[in-house]
Amino acid sequence: MRSPTLTLPKLGVGLAYQAPLAPLLAAVGPDLDYVEVVPDILWTDLGRTAEPRYVDDRAGRAALEQASHGRPIVAHGIGLSIGSAGEFDAAHVEQVERWRRRLGFPWHSDHLAFHLAEHGDALMNVGITLPLPRDRESIELLVPRLREVRQRVPVPFLLENNVYYFDIPACEMDEPTFLNTLCRESGCGLVLDLHNVYTNARNHGFDAGAMLSELELEHVGEIHVAGGMELDGFYLDAHSDTIPDPVWSLLEWTLPRCPNLGGVTFELFGSWFESVGNARITADLRRLRALWTHVVHPAPRRCAAEPVSALAFQTALARLIVDPDFRDAVRGDGVAALPGPLTALEASRLVTIAHDRGVDMNRTLHKGFRLGKLRALLPLTCALLTPARLAREVAAFWQANPPASFSFLPEALEFCAFLERRRLRSAYLTEVLAYERATLELERARFGPAPPQSVCFRHDPVRLLGTLAAGRRPRSVPPRPCLLLGSKDGDTAARWTLVDAVTPSSRYDHAHAADTDSGAKGITT
Ligand SMILES: [Fe+2]
Repeated sequence: MRSPTLTLPKLGVGLAYQAPLAPLLAAVGPDLDYVEVVPDILWTDLGRTAEPRYVDDRAGRAALEQASHGRPIVAHGIGLSIGSAGEFDAAHVEQVERWRRRLGFPWHSDHLAFHLAEHGDALMNVGITLPLPRDRESIELLVPRLREVRQRVPVPFLLENNVYYFDIPACEMDEPTFLNTLCRESGCGLVLDLHNVYTNARNHGFDAGAMLSELELEHVGEIHVAGGMELDGFYLDAHSDTIPDPVWSLLEWTLPRCPNLGGVTFELFGSWFESVGNARITADLRRLRALWTHVVHPAPRRCAAEPVSALAFQTALARLIVDPDFRDAVRGDGVAALPGPLTALEASRLVTIAHDRGVDMNRTLHKGFRLGKLRALLPLTCALLTPARLAREVAAFWQANPPASFSFLPEALEFCAFLERRRLRSAYLTEVLAYERATLELERARFGPAPPQSVCFRHDPVRLLGTLAAGRRPRSVPPRPCLLLGSKDGDTAARWTLVDAVTPSSRYDHAHAADTDSGAKGITT
């Protein structure tokens, strides 16, 4: 079962609100897009049996709204304890909804953990988020609660992957499987806290990147980043510093892979603001903003402003492959050899590519393909020329005739005309070339009317064509002045009739011709 697609506004970069950070919020300007607040600080909870239970903090609200400077406010709760095995705190969810209506949270979140446990008739608040067993039983507990949260608060709800300094042994699922399953079955999304992933990986010795690669990142609606500190052999998710390099690396890998991401939030406890310093915090926010802008709103491609240059670029690139003179000119003269219009980037790329050995490999492949087509359409002519002679003639032909299309029939006819103009001193070439050219002309009948063809032979065409068709070089073919008359209707095979200049009434069928060393099929005489 797949969860519904998360639909979050793409806000950008946020900062977890703490009262000491208010001056920073005022000064940071456009590098910050939203403010994230722990909504629980906006009220005092007098307990589940108190009436009224909640006392709202109006002064706190005013301070938050002033500090946010009109930026959107996102809620990130700590009080739900959604994983508590005891009673689900629906009243807490209703309190979040009241504040959503006041502050307009586009989404809200809490922690995938528990901190409230029953202790006799009272609740014990551990004060830290404790891990849940990654078992089916936990899924069964959470899914109906998550549905209820989504019903009571009509904006997307996200759960944050927990940091844990001990793991629960013998869980049925690993962490990615547990998170994926929970999101799929409940329809909630994730706050993916990359510093939590880093902290857990460091403390428990697993590969954070491998863990992330197993996670279904379409469930991620928000990312958290932070810094931490060492204490007693542990690395702590202390929110006490700027973002460490390994977390930047995780972010750079993860960010482009989260299609439904609404924002990236930097978490820093206010008590560390003085020691970390305004400059370092601001630098991290700017770096986050640049990464967000690059990934979520990538700059238009440079060629987009000059769409015609893409055509010119591809033309030049193709010429590097098919035209060795052009390739050598670019190698020698650089940008000066390139026709416009090209952007500076495209011209630079082309000059670099011209020197790449891959261009020569492409040319080899290109020539093989093009020659293969000629061999297929003009097999007897190609067989008659020696390989070296064929290579020279083809090279000279290609020099003057760039490949125009992948319909090679016109190219083969052009090659025939080219060879005819060359007046090569080659025995039998004139007759064989004329026969194959006429055959190609008849092939045009597939595309339209084909006029009848006549080919004049001075040597026995049955012997000559049959020998070539058998893969042998013809030698001492006896003279036989004659005409081959060809016709073709549509998709039927070409029909050839030999008209002998000496005995014009004589006729041979194909079987008879085969007896006389002929492979030139379909010729009747
Ligand atoms: Fe977090």
